Amino acid sequence: MISDQQTSELRESAKRASENAYCCYSRFSVGASALTSSGKIYSGCNIENASYGLAICAERTAIFNAVSSGEREIVAVAIYTPTKKPTAPCGACRQVINEFGPEATIFCGCDGSDSLQLRLDELLPSAFGPNDLAS
Ligand code: THU
Repeated sequence: MISDQQTSELRESAKRASENAYCCYSRFSVGASALTSSGKIYSGCNIENASYGLAICAERTAIFNAVSSGEREIVAVAIYTPTKKPTAPCGACRQVINEFGPEATIFCGCDGSDSLQLRLDELLPSAFGPNDLAS
C-alpha cells in the first residue's frame, strides 16, 4: 500500500527530475520517479542525443537508476510532463517497468488538473516477462 505522503513525494520528485531533462531536439521534457519495495525513490529524466534514435525516456532512466543501485522491485512510478494533459509511458518503458514491477501503480501528472492512475498490467496486458523464459 502506498501512502498519500509517498505518492506526493514520488510526484514531486518526478517534477523536479524533469528540470534536468536533456531534450534540446524534441523540447519535450519528462521526469519520472520510481518507488521501490525498500521505500526509496529513484528519479530520472529523458536524455536525447544528436543521433536522435539514441534518446532514452525518463521512465527508463529512473528504473535503470534504481536497478543499478541494487533495487529489483518497483512498486510505483510517477511521470511528469509540463503539458495540459497527462501523458502515459511509451511502449518500451511499459515493457521495462514490467520487468521489475508488473503490478506497479503508474501516476501520470502534468500542469493541468487532470491526472492518470493506472496499474502497469492495465497499460501492458498479456505482457511478455521473465516467467515466459522459464516455461
Ligand atoms: N519520452 C519520455 O521520456 N517518456 C515517454 O514515455 C515518452 C517520450 C521522451 C523521449 C523524447 O526525449 C521525448 O520524450 C519526445 O518523444
